[in-house]
Amino acid sequence: MQIALVLITLAITTARAQQPAANTPQKRIGTETEAQKKARMQWWSDARFGMFIHWGLYSLAARHEWVKHNEHLTNEQYQKYFDEFNPDLFEPQKWAKQAKAAGMKYAVLTSKHHEGFCLFDSKYTDYKATNTGAKRDLVREYVNAFRAEGLKVGFYYSLLDWHHPDYTMDDAHPLMQVNHSEADYERLNKGRDMAKYRQYMRNQITELLTNYGKIDVLWLDWSWGKDSKHGKRDQDWGAVELLKLVRKLQPGIIVNNRLGLEDYKDGGDFETPEQVSTAELAKYHGKTWETCQTFSGSWGYYRDENTWKTHRQLLDLLISSVSNGGNLILNVGPTARGEFDYRATRALDSLSYWMHANSKSVYNCTYAPAAFKIPDGEKLTYNPTTKRLYVQLFNYPANGKLILPGYKGKIKYAQLLNDDSELISNASNGNQDDLELTLPVKKPPYEIPVIELILQ
Ligand code: GLC
Repeated sequence: MQIALVLITLAITTARAQQPAANTPQKRIGTETEAQKKARMQWWSDARFGMFIHWGLYSLAARHEWVKHNEHLTNEQYQKYFDEFNPDLFEPQKWAKQAKAAGMKYAVLTSKHHEGFCLFDSKYTDYKATNTGAKRDLVREYVNAFRAEGLKVGFYYSLLDWHHPDYTMDDAHPLMQVNHSEADYERLNKGRDMAKYRQYMRNQITELLTNYGKIDVLWLDWSWGKDSKHGKRDQDWGAVELLKLVRKLQPGIIVNNRLGLEDYKDGGDFETPEQVSTAELAKYHGKTWETCQTFSGSWGYYRDENTWKTHRQLLDLLISSVSNGGNLILNVGPTARGEFDYRATRALDSLSYWMHANSKSVYNCTYAPAAFKIPDGEKLTYNPTTKRLYVQLFNYPANGKLILPGYKGKIKYAQLLNDDSELISNASNGNQDDLELTLPVKKPPYEIPVIELILQ
């Protein structure tokens, strides 16, 4: 049963545009030049690694943030989560410290997810944290804590709203059944007015972008594809005007691409491949993007979900993102009590350990210049400013000998990144243009050790 529900959710989420944008469209909303955009986004491109946080009433159900949709719950049936919400262990300072230790440079928190519940103190609804057992503005505490750790601060805001009385039916709404008819849509839409909901969103986004100081990222979620029959898109959200408002309120902000404005060159700052494989990331080479990924299969806390990614899979996601010129935002779904659970903590700790030694091969890095071939089975990242090339050793050579194909004459010095210990290189016995590096026979204590090559 549960699996079937997750599959329905997956079907809907994958119906969304997840392919890299085709040819760049020419229509424009603003007047920013490419150089200005690059400068605005510099910190973000340099950062490469962020933390997504999905936290809301669904954390109590603990079985996916789409639980209201998956189980077709009414507002009344969902009310128990609001009544019981009381995150007594919420200490965002701890979250911020964990994020920072793991090497993440920015965070994005769900200020409101599809369920409609607001973690912030909005004037425009009673459905908010201040009216629960929490009795306070949790977004404010998050902002203060993350900023204090020197992390950039972002808000996720759901365009969908499964609680608002004016939000009309679509094929993701909890009140719509799988075999819904046109008559059902009409009946359920009676008295609902999207114009009022649009205004509600504008009001709330205005609050979020004026009451909390400088906000670095806005992550709006999501729009249906153009051919969807019962989906919502740019027009439904008043997207062009909304984006103008966002940019007016926070000129430096970085906004994702899920408003349904793909006909505009500047309808979003970055693409958002969701839960794609590391192999698929190659398609995004040369674009501006951030892949969003979960530790397990769900964004919200899911107690019984057991497909947690291994340390190696997480590193692969991070390294593959950087080596294709993009960012990774990795999600934590805190428990209803307000903590990262033991599995998330374990995963973050393992990343901290690796990043402590190897983060130079992540920050400010991107794909390698075309002149450098990727050694068999490994991956490359590259810092264009320091001109250092990093070989990510996914397959540690059993005999300690690594062939660098065609690298002869291109390398000034080679060392292990984790301890700056020299690696001797010699001409290879095979191809004249190859170099052979001698690595310690005993693999350094990192799942994926990294070699730093200082180029000529
Ligand atoms: C999808 C899901 C949502 C999650 C998001 C993160 O849009 O609907 O639950 O917040 O992806 O990318």
